[in-house]
Amino acid sequence: MSNAVCYTEAMATVFPNIIAHRGASGTAPENTLAAFERAVASGAKAIELDVTVSADGVPIILHDETLDRTTNGTGPVILKSWAELKKLDAGSWFGPEFASVPIPTLQETLDFAFVHGVQLNLEIKPILGWEGPTVKAMADVLRGTAARYVVSSFNERALAMFHSLMPNAEIAVLIHALPPHWAERLEHLNTNAIHAWDPFITQALVEEVLDAGAVLRVFTVNDVARAEQLWSWGVESIFTDFPDKWVGPDKWVGTR
Ligand code: G3P
Ligand code: MG
Repeated sequence: MSNAVCYTEAMATVFPNIIAHRGASGTAPENTLAAFERAVASGAKAIELDVTVSADGVPIILHDETLDRTTNGTGPVILKSWAELKKLDAGSWFGPEFASVPIPTLQETLDFAFVHGVQLNLEIKPILGWEGPTVKAMADVLRGTAARYVVSSFNERALAMFHSLMPNAEIAVLIHALPPHWAERLEHLNTNAIHAWDPFITQALVEEVLDAGAVLRVFTVNDVARAEQLWSWGVESIFTDFPDKWVGPDKWVGTR
């Protein structure tokens, strides 16, 4: 079966060549406003971040299902109310200068992005079984924002549920290796954008994706030479923990 992509609605937004992964997470605590501020200060025009939900339905920015690695809390995020989560320190684990940096809400992050004019990639990170409450909470907040964003997730159930709630919101399919008939998955979600894992990316794969009319963004790339190679093959964007490694306006805008 052909992997040519048939689009029924809008094509993917052109994303900047560099997307700050969890903010500038190499130099500040990931998924906090401190990391987003550092990304903007370095010149980044796009930020990726991970969205999950509190026990009482507040969408928040955190990568893990548990609090232990990146906060001074413990246990599953989904068992905590926002009143409990907002008291946590999400910065000290990274360095004492970030003590008391809190977990941001999705609303705070959208407001930040709008004020600074940066595009967002909102990666849905639902705890398995909580896809519905997670995407509903996100949609309730996103309906009121003017910030520009693309939604992605490894969890295709969550993506499909989000798409049914927000059919005009832009989606990207997030995967590690491209499966056979990958284009059917894109068509199902009405997108032509793929976010894929760097170790699987070859020049032949990039050619296959581009020949089918799709767009490829690759995570997580912290090596300058590898990024240059991926761009030369036609990859639109790389997600990096160190957006400050690149300087120069040509790298901050989409070139497709
Ligand atoms: O969205 C790209 C990338 O963030 C996916 O992996 O684990 O870093 O969220 P992860
Ligand atoms: Mg992510």
